[in-house]
Amino acid sequence: MPFGLISAWNKRRRSKSHDHSDPWVYKPAEYWQLEDQTPRPTKRRHGSSVFTFREMEEATRSFSDENFLGKGGFGRVYRGILRSGEASQIVAIKKMELPAFKEAEGEREFRVEVDILSRLDHPNLVSLIGYCADGKDRFLVYEYMKNGNLQDCLNGIGEAKMDWPLRLKVALGAAKGLAYLHSGSDVGIPIVHRDFKSTNILLDTNFEAKISDFGLAKLMPEGQETYVTARVLGTFGYFDPEYTSTGKLTLQSDVYAFGVVLLELLTGRRAVDMSQGPYDQNLVLQVRHILNDRKKLRKVLDPELGRSTYIMESIAMFANLASRCVRTESSERPSVEECVKELQLIIYTSSKGLGGRTRTFRKV
Ligand SMILES: Nc1ncnc2c1ncn2[C@@H]1O[C@H](COP(=O)(O)OP(=O)(O)OP(=O)(O)O)[C@@H](O)[C@H]1O
Ligand SMILES: [Mg+2]
Repeated sequence: MPFGLISAWNKRRRSKSHDHSDPWVYKPAEYWQLEDQTPRPTKRRHGSSVFTFREMEEATRSFSDENFLGKGGFGRVYRGILRSGEASQIVAIKKMELPAFKEAEGEREFRVEVDILSRLDHPNLVSLIGYCADGKDRFLVYEYMKNGNLQDCLNGIGEAKMDWPLRLKVALGAAKGLAYLHSGSDVGIPIVHRDFKSTNILLDTNFEAKISDFGLAKLMPEGQETYVTARVLGTFGYFDPEYTSTGKLTLQSDVYAFGVVLLELLTGRRAVDMSQGPYDQNLVLQVRHILNDRKKLRKVLDPELGRSTYIMESIAMFANLASRCVRTESSERPSVEECVKELQLIIYTSSKGLGGRTRTFRKV
């Protein structure tokens, strides 16, 4: 149980803990393993299926290198094909591979991911197709996102470079996904993602942005705007300074991280660049002071941005929004709902300025 969830939620859990159909009840690993013994694929609530280790092995051709997609803190991610009779589905399979001392933490993240993601449904959140909790093996099975993560796309690791209208579309999609989490729709309680970053924004075939990785997510019941944590979790470069210094987590911690992603979209730089000296590593510190100065702003714009794909007006509006999202005081940051509205206005301004030209996509 992730460090004592909020009392209202706890009350609800306790009063119904005997009821396995209650989507709020955390299910112990043993319970999942019981379900593992039923014929597969078994559709669970909200469409999550339960898989065996063998199915994971077959889907990825024994975790072959050709199916390897990437590696993160939880383990390796593989492309897989799930077959059921004639039908087949391409998926991404994340395999938990942690050293023994991190296994308990991994198990907790695994449960939070399954528990939260299987009850959420939004076009800008990655869908969890199912999971495998077979013995000690843990896998998460997601919809496959053909264009990988945003950071790789921005850094040209993907097939194509991103033009300005496409970056605006991605920013808006990510903001909408975050707004859905913060609004608490479907779950009834607002959710803080806590690990919002460019590698956790995945892009589908149409470059629609979908937020992934909910292992650190936290439920924030109404009336409780702050949650005090014993440990600061997340990713260096995206940490809300207020959360880092006080341990107080708020929905606005995600807004700070969202602001960092906006800066990545604007500059094409990484949130943290270890190749720089100790005082120039952090993107926010590098550019914060010039975001509202148009002349200086040009100097930090991503040189990969085709000049014909943007007008300075929309860049300035975007930089101004980013500068407010990364304010040190969380209360001075806009809500993510406000970010959605502003981005819609920026997109309108951009497309009007470009003479109604719709987004182009430049392949390299
Ligand atoms: N659903 C998916 N579809 C396609 N590729 C994916 C999917 N999920 C993850 N990936 C790829 O696998 C890589 C590793 O993902 P993972 O979430 O494990 O690590 P990360 O986000 O880079 O780091 P962290 O562990 O800190 O979150 C991603 O960067 C992405 O390129
Ligand atoms: Mg990730």
